[in-house]
Amino acid sequence: MTIPAIDSLTDRVVLLTGVTGDIGATYLSAFTRAGAHVVATDLPNAEDAGQRLVADATAAGPGRAVFVGCDITDGEGVQRAVDTATKEFGGLHSVVNNAAIYRTLGGKRPLVELTEADWDLVLRVNVIGTWQVIKAAAPVLAASGQGRIVNIASVVSRNGAPGFAHYVASKAAVEGLTRSAARELGVSGTTVNSVSPGLVDDGATRELNTDEYLAMAARARAIPRAMVPEDLVGAVLWLSGPASGFVTGQTLVVDGGGVFV
Ligand SMILES: NC(=O)c1ccc[n+]([C@@H]2O[C@H](COP(=O)([O-])OP(=O)(O)OC[C@H]3O[C@@H](n4cnc5c(N)ncnc54)[C@H](O)[C@@H]3O)[C@@H](O)[C@H]2O)c1
Repeated sequence: MTIPAIDSLTDRVVLLTGVTGDIGATYLSAFTRAGAHVVATDLPNAEDAGQRLVADATAAGPGRAVFVGCDITDGEGVQRAVDTATKEFGGLHSVVNNAAIYRTLGGKRPLVELTEADWDLVLRVNVIGTWQVIKAAAPVLAASGQGRIVNIASVVSRNGAPGFAHYVASKAAVEGLTRSAARELGVSGTTVNSVSPGLVDDGATRELNTDEYLAMAARARAIPRAMVPEDLVGAVLWLSGPASGFVTGQTLVVDGGGVFV
């Protein structure tokens, strides 16, 4: 067996969802810098921002990126994004399920104030949407013989987080979906893992939390500083690449040692 080069993402094709958030945009530029080609997706109403991001990422190279507007809860739209990978780049090796309802949670609310509609939306996007992407991508990933799926969960499902019961439950479900998908898709060489970020100091988090809460989260870490999107890049790119091919069904916590699992 050839020893894989751990930094070799050259010419891998990646489907990345939620690209216009601060974290998704960081993954996009990390992938194209590493030589991967990216089908970058977000909601259709994020088309302008998405097109700007893929133009910048392609200009920086060496990888190329294209934008496809699609809602991950819409199976046909998701299929269009997967088909774009084949048409533009000849196939698909990796999927990063990063899209979620997070910034748009609209603030913290006690669970007794949440409505069924709140739960429906968050579970539909964060869990069913993630499943839709896995479902559409699985056959093309299998054809590559070295498929990788990285689902973005969150450490909140370990500690809980007041004010976000539906979001926390959705991220716990993502971990369960990861394990089941790993069991089903491993036979075709596809690995499925979760990356579980701690509280990232990005635009979305700042809309939802106070400075004091962010400072408290930073102090609770073994590495006591603010977490930034760039802190996630190593874990996500490694799990998307050839070197992690015998790691599957796992959740990798990236939070500077806030929780140990
Ligand atoms: N920021 C944090 O502290 C933090 C911590 C742990 C986990 N996460 C996770 O990391 C990921 C990125 O977080 P972020 O801070 O950039 O959040 P964000 O809310 O800014 O970005 C989420 C992206 O998903 C997109 N999206 C939402 N609904 C969609 C749908 N139905 N179809 C397609 N796209 C949709 C949004 O348009 C947005 O671009 C999310 O999965 C989030 O849950 C974030």
